[in-house]
Amino acid sequence: MSDKIKIAIAGFGNVTSTLIKGLQFYKNSTEGLWHPKLAGFDITDVVVTGIFDIHPAKVGKKISDVVSDCKLDSDLTIQPGISEDPLSHNSALMWGIKSTTYEDFVISLKKINPDFLINLISSGMDKSGEKYAKASLETGCSFFNATASKITTEQLRASFTSKGLMILGDDLMSQFGGTAFHRGMMEFIINRGIKIEKAYQLDVGGNQDTQNTMAEEIREKKRKIKTESIAVEVPYPFKSTAGTTEFAEQLGNSRVSYYWMEAKGFLGSTIEMDLALKTNDSTNGCNVILDSIRAAKMAISKKDLGKSEIISAYAFKNPLKKFKIRESIKAFEEAFTN
Ligand SMILES: NC(=O)c1ccc[n+]([C@@H]2O[C@H](COP(=O)([O-])OP(=O)(O)OC[C@H]3O[C@@H](n4cnc5c(N)ncnc54)[C@H](O)[C@@H]3O)[C@@H](O)[C@H]2O)c1
Repeated sequence: MSDKIKIAIAGFGNVTSTLIKGLQFYKNSTEGLWHPKLAGFDITDVVVTGIFDIHPAKVGKKISDVVSDCKLDSDLTIQPGISEDPLSHNSALMWGIKSTTYEDFVISLKKINPDFLINLISSGMDKSGEKYAKASLETGCSFFNATASKITTEQLRASFTSKGLMILGDDLMSQFGGTAFHRGMMEFIINRGIKIEKAYQLDVGGNQDTQNTMAEEIREKKRKIKTESIAVEVPYPFKSTAGTTEFAEQLGNSRVSYYWMEAKGFLGSTIEMDLALKTNDSTNGCNVILDSIRAAKMAISKKDLGKSEIISAYAFKNPLKKFKIRESIKAFEEAFTN
């Protein structure tokens, strides 16, 4: 397949700048890629054609000036995005923003005419996320929601489908993050005939997104999504809690997930597990984003829009239809790697 995949991104934070560095790096390497070639596309087929943010120190700057630790070929300028939410819980934005109207944003997006708009804005910006989805539909591009905002509904999916587009979401599941690892462990324990009784996952992170997640309503929402996502692996009720629990600036862009689990084996013998996983948030999301958009581009070009179910189950913690983690990877690879 020779077409390029044009993406526009709302939110120029940690994940977006890492994704852009990755697109530069993978012009000359494939090391660290989950699927170097997927759905007929290489990573070099993905091109970023528009970036939007509302941070006053970012809007109007060239991305090559903001990403200082990597030499970029791109001379894209960050354009103003839409702001529809209160900014009180976002310490990076509470002193002022540079935004534009919905109508002007749609004009900018139409000029770029991307295949996908990727929503990578701060946690808690639910109304802005909804507006970005609406703008995608109006512009005629597919939408990818990496945030935990509940945007993807059956109704909205039907609207995108009727225009030959896809909406994918919600809440990106990192390649080897707290949730994916937790689900994989659960699956293995159950497959070995062990009965899980109680478990928790406590996350500590040091980046801006974790800080934003400390607002109680956002934290509660994320905890619910993670707990429900993990429950998909276990065919019976058990006592479980999972969520972002604390912000510790000294961790930087790292996240540590602490797991504890109690299970029962033969004669009710106790199996107890206590471990920690340290990962980097932004790099952990990029393979999944790049895989999903390459898969979606192929499915859209074949008018096979029902494949959004498989892509969403692979890439998100809160898709419309949840699969077990092993089944989601199998279904995705069967559909897109041959
Ligand atoms: N692996 C991962 O990192 C991962 C996994 C799951 C979900 N996510 C989600 O992805 C999103 C991005 O994560 P991040 O670490 O890059 O966040 P970040 O806080 O580093 O960056 C968010 C950016 O969005 C901008 N922004 C806020 N409101 C905006 C608006 N209305 N329009 C345009 N820009 C806006 C901010 O100014 C900031 O530059 C978050 O919602 C996060 O929860 C990330």
